[in-house]
Amino acid sequence: MPDPAKTILLITRNENDNLFLRPLLEREGALLLPLYTLSDPSPPPREIRHIIIDLNFGMEKLETVLQWCHKHYPLLSPLILSPFPQEALKTVSRRSSLKIIKKPFSAEELLTTLFPHDSLSSLNPPSSPLIRDGEFLSASPKMEAVYELVRQVAPTDASVLLRGETGTGKEIIAGLIHRLSRRKNEKMVTINCAALPETLLESELFGYEKGAFSGAATSKEGKFEYAHNGTLLLDEIGDMALSLQAKVLRVLQEKAVERLGGHQKRQADVRVISATNQPLEELMSRGLFRDDLYYRLNVISVTLPPLRQRPEDILLLSEHFLHIFKQKYAKEVEGFSHKVKDILTEYFWPGNVRELKNLIESFVILTKKHLITDDLIPESIKNKTQSHSPRVKRADSPLRALEEHEKEAIRKALKTTRGNKKEAARILGIARSTLYNKIKRYGLS
Ligand SMILES: Nc1ncnc2c1ncn2[C@@H]1O[C@H](COP(=O)(O)OP(=O)(O)OP(=O)(O)O)[C@@H](O)[C@H]1O
Ligand SMILES: [Mg+2]
Repeated sequence: MPDPAKTILLITRNENDNLFLRPLLEREGALLLPLYTLSDPSPPPREIRHIIIDLNFGMEKLETVLQWCHKHYPLLSPLILSPFPQEALKTVSRRSSLKIIKKPFSAEELLTTLFPHDSLSSLNPPSSPLIRDGEFLSASPKMEAVYELVRQVAPTDASVLLRGETGTGKEIIAGLIHRLSRRKNEKMVTINCAALPETLLESELFGYEKGAFSGAATSKEGKFEYAHNGTLLLDEIGDMALSLQAKVLRVLQEKAVERLGGHQKRQADVRVISATNQPLEELMSRGLFRDDLYYRLNVISVTLPPLRQRPEDILLLSEHFLHIFKQKYAKEVEGFSHKVKDILTEYFWPGNVRELKNLIESFVILTKKHLITDDLIPESIKNKTQSHSPRVKRADSPLRALEEHEKEAIRKALKTTRGNKKEAARILGIARSTLYNKIKRYGLS
């Protein structure tokens, strides 16, 4: 059933010109009234809401066509489809209300230009959140169950082991546990066990006395001591060396710590939360993780489902991050096109919420339009939907996707501006210094 609000007058040179446009627009409910010749004596239809001019004729003729349109439909601004938008623009420069799309164009580009409001009035409205606690947000019943468990466990002093793929929100949940605990007014200290070499991690955790090792010019308190009465998050616990695991266990049992090279016991009453995306049981069976520490840390186990298992969260978080980043970058962005929403919902999200967040940030940085359209989505994402379920390596992948995407956008901007960096930075909506850094990093010049 054609939608009367979408009645379109399609002006083309002849009947064969609109073979591609006709089915596309009709699918959208458009009623098309092709006008092959302006000298047609029958009066023009009155119910027209949009005019598309498929520019397959010369520029002189365009002027005539535009005059004709203005005479009969003074309130409508025709949309011109042209392989040479610059030329068309020159011809029609006096009419600022005209819109021009360069051929070839995608179906989505045409539809979002023609019916911008439509593209926003989402077919896929984001779910409203079931939970909103600080920066933590979710519309998924699975996450609601997690949140319930967290609320139940937080006020106790029980050790919590957080599990889940990279980027699922383990750190944000750890923060929530601390905030909902009776230690909330004390410190929350995080240490990433994967980021530091063994000896450095040891001195960070336990602290040291002056002269404990060469280079220890002064004494320093460790994280255990510093977090006394508060919460200590041992992030990426699966990466901790065996020798340190034994020491950590001792501190947890004694609630006291001895600095390296020292003899004095210092108080270290911490609530420990640990997080990992590694299969600890498998590490234990291979002798790489101590059983006793595992049982000490795993009093309560909280597993965060991957993003692909909570589809309700994809659009909710997309809108949430869009809101955050459009403020951060002071850009006017209204929302995502249908196609983008479809792709986001279908994608496998190996890097989970972090990957989504990075992608939305890149959209806001790179978009030149008010609507986020699918040209901003890297091919690597378009090609991967749930059915492909690719295996991607841990935390590198979302970053790599973002970087590839960014690199491509910079390359395009530089090409468009013939290497004019000031102009390219303006197009990309980033500072010139940022652009210089990125050009250097990606080896683009
Ligand atoms: N439910 C959520 N609501 C809002 N932001 C979220 C949510 N889940 C994750 N995030 C955001 O996504 C990013 C990744 O989350 P986080 O660092 O907690 O993941 P992680 O599980 O610790 O990942 P990794 O295993 O790689 O360390 C963070 O910026 C976090 O703020
Ligand atoms: Mg983390």
